[in-house]
Amino acid sequence: MITSSKTNSLQGNIILPGDKSISHRAIIFGALSIGKTVIEGLLESEDIYRTIKAMEKFGARIIKNKNNWEVYGFGVGGFSSPENVIDCGNSGTTCRLLMGAISTTPIKAVFVGDPSLSKRPMDRIIEPLERMGASFIARENSFLPITITGAKEPLPIRFESKIDSAQIKSAVLLAGLNCRGETTYIEKSLTRNHTENMLSDFGVKVDSKFSSKGFSHKLLGFQELTPKKIVVPTDPSSAAFFIASALIVKDSSINLYNLCMNHTRSGFLETVKEMGAKIELSNNRTISGELVADLTVCFSKLKGIEVPISRVPSMIDEYPILSIIASFATGKTIMRGIKELTVKESNRIVSMAKGLKQCGIEIEYGDDFLIVSGQKKVTGGAKIRTFGDHRVAMSFLCLGQASEKPIILDEYSSINTSFPTFINEFRKVGANIMQN
Ligand code: S3P
Repeated sequence: MITSSKTNSLQGNIILPGDKSISHRAIIFGALSIGKTVIEGLLESEDIYRTIKAMEKFGARIIKNKNNWEVYGFGVGGFSSPENVIDCGNSGTTCRLLMGAISTTPIKAVFVGDPSLSKRPMDRIIEPLERMGASFIARENSFLPITITGAKEPLPIRFESKIDSAQIKSAVLLAGLNCRGETTYIEKSLTRNHTENMLSDFGVKVDSKFSSKGFSHKLLGFQELTPKKIVVPTDPSSAAFFIASALIVKDSSINLYNLCMNHTRSGFLETVKEMGAKIELSNNRTISGELVADLTVCFSKLKGIEVPISRVPSMIDEYPILSIIASFATGKTIMRGIKELTVKESNRIVSMAKGLKQCGIEIEYGDDFLIVSGQKKVTGGAKIRTFGDHRVAMSFLCLGQASEKPIILDEYSSINTSFPTFINEFRKVGANIMQN
């Protein structure tokens, strides 16, 4: 059992884990190049271990050293047929990026996942990858388990996505690497661009530009990836929980280091600053092609705002924790255009709405919006169901630090998928979180 209770103040330095999206890609791109890629600061969590195990099954050699990881890759199109199923656990990124990467190599693989991943839509990647020549046998509704047979003679495509998703974009671009000719992916809004950035870093030319239809990304197939040393910045989505608690727990002041400030990930920071958050940035610099900075965050008086819909892709994983912050702000915080939250590790609109209601917070919600009315005092005092979703679990552990009565969760092992050191880091800076 875990209890999060009223905390006097949070003070000190946080050691954040490596960025999850960049960590997945560092392993995958290392495997797609021939030779040794060295990764420093890799996130060591269940989701990343799924990608590591999968890439080993496809033929990569991956070694953990004291201070870094080494990936010995097999090159684009060098995948071997795995002898057993590819178990992606809870990780949508592992599943969708790897299906894309192997879809243009003539091998067969069976992908499975945990109960949550087995309910998440895969038709979004099946559609473009079938057009490139891959074939799929899926359970009903295109759910996992899925058997994929990669294309013998892959075709490049021009794909206009109806959904803003970096996972779909990455799947198509990775598939395009093993096609003769030019693959083009068009998205209405720019989603996280780590795939484009890292491909460029590995020496692959990706032409990304704003067009009348949105953002287009083009690459020519059969370009080789050159192995690299990668330093992974720390994860802004994991940082958001510490930023939130520092903002809502009185007298707090915390420092965060090497935070990934990529503009396709910084929507949460912009939003909380508009709400009145006192956040200071320093030491702006570039690491492995990504902007990073250090942050100091202090307790702040916050007001509710309407979050612009255009900002959704750049803070897609931060809506659960934003709804907690909104509970402590004056007035309403209006979050619209968030339908994609319904197909994350849980239906995050419903998961958060149910928990917030139990904590005495006034909310309205539907299948693409959530409106939270801030309270002078948040009651808390509830046993929250996380729906096995790591971000829901972490969000309510933050709420408990500032609510009148403690919060209990029905489970918290889900946190290990993205942030195994979460509880220890919070305790170190004074959070009143008890496991028993
Ligand atoms: C991710 C993209 C996002 C995000 C997920 C990680 C990635 O998903 O929610 O946590 O690393 O590409 P979508 O692209 O499906 O929105």
